[in-house]
Amino acid sequence: MHLLVTGASGLLGLNLSLLAVREGNTVTGLVHSHGLSGVPFQQMQVDLLQEQEALCAIQTAKPDAIIHCAAQANLNLAERDPQLTQRLNAEMPGFLAAAAKQNQIPFIHISTDAVFDGERGGYVEDDPVRPISVYAKTKLAGEQAVLENNPDAIVARVVFYGWSLSGVRSLGEFFFNNLKESHPVNGFTDTFFSPLYVEDLSKVLLDMLTSGLIGIYHVVSPESVSKYAFGVRIADRFGFNPQLISPIKSSEIKRGASRSLNLSLNPGKVEKALGYTLPTVDDGLEQFYLRWQQGYPKQLQSYAS
Ligand SMILES: NC(=O)c1ccc[n+]([C@@H]2O[C@H](COP(=O)([O-])OP(=O)(O)OC[C@H]3O[C@@H](n4cnc5c(N)ncnc54)[C@H](OP(=O)(O)O)[C@@H]3O)[C@@H](O)[C@H]2O)c1
Repeated sequence: MHLLVTGASGLLGLNLSLLAVREGNTVTGLVHSHGLSGVPFQQMQVDLLQEQEALCAIQTAKPDAIIHCAAQANLNLAERDPQLTQRLNAEMPGFLAAAAKQNQIPFIHISTDAVFDGERGGYVEDDPVRPISVYAKTKLAGEQAVLENNPDAIVARVVFYGWSLSGVRSLGEFFFNNLKESHPVNGFTDTFFSPLYVEDLSKVLLDMLTSGLIGIYHVVSPESVSKYAFGVRIADRFGFNPQLISPIKSSEIKRGASRSLNLSLNPGKVEKALGYTLPTVDDGLEQFYLRWQQGYPKQLQSYAS
């Protein structure tokens, strides 16, 4: 397959593009402000807010499928610049999904666990949504625009961590970087999520594409953990001191955007469709650790030009 991956410099887009190439596909990665050097795939510099640039990229790359990972994914920036966030997260996905439909190209849109209010957890795809931040509201609007314009699209609600181009993008890297330097950090005991390791998520997304799925899926770990417990497990796996992590409630410190407390999702629908169980949190952390041992974080950071 020849894949067009948007946001190819981002945490998901870069890991996904590299994995897709390793699995025998070719990739055209769309980058924006961060060009990449030495990656084993083609890249094109495109501002997706310029519709003509986006269309031109699709026509030039002639992909067999599009995986749309680009977004304004910074929650605090979303509160400060809701208009830009609305254009990028809510409007542009609908435009790209329509272009994919017109060209009869399968389309995966990446959405978020944060479309739920987090009051209950264990959410399935049909549960009522109630996003509570600008970021989450625009991501929900993006899902809706995608499915209105292209009912054959896949909408994957995800949450993930891994090694990134900058080395500081994911929650996993936050704990790793601080604990490695023996810096004390806080870990929230009342905030739950179901994170997948990003390369595991990438494999599942490719399987969803080749299986011809359509509609909304929760593509997350079947296990949920608090952010505190997640940090402690990272400390344990890498041999750092877990007591550097202070267990606190999220209400004890002030953060910018509102965050939902229990965002554990149920991945049963995608597991049934694909015929396998998604990785547990410890399975994912084992990969996160093995890839570090193999020098993968340094390899990724070497692509920053
Ligand atoms: N990280 C998580 O745990 C998480 C959780 C739930 C959902 N998601 C969703 O997963 C997807 C990927 O997230 P991520 O963490 O990989 O994001 P990320 O690391 O912040 O990467 C975002 C990507 O979007 C690109 N981009 C931003 N503005 C653009 C523009 N105007 N034109 C073209 N490209 C643009 C960025 O390029 P430049 O940097 O070059 O500008 C970057 O490659 C997003 O849809 C996000 O909402 C993420």
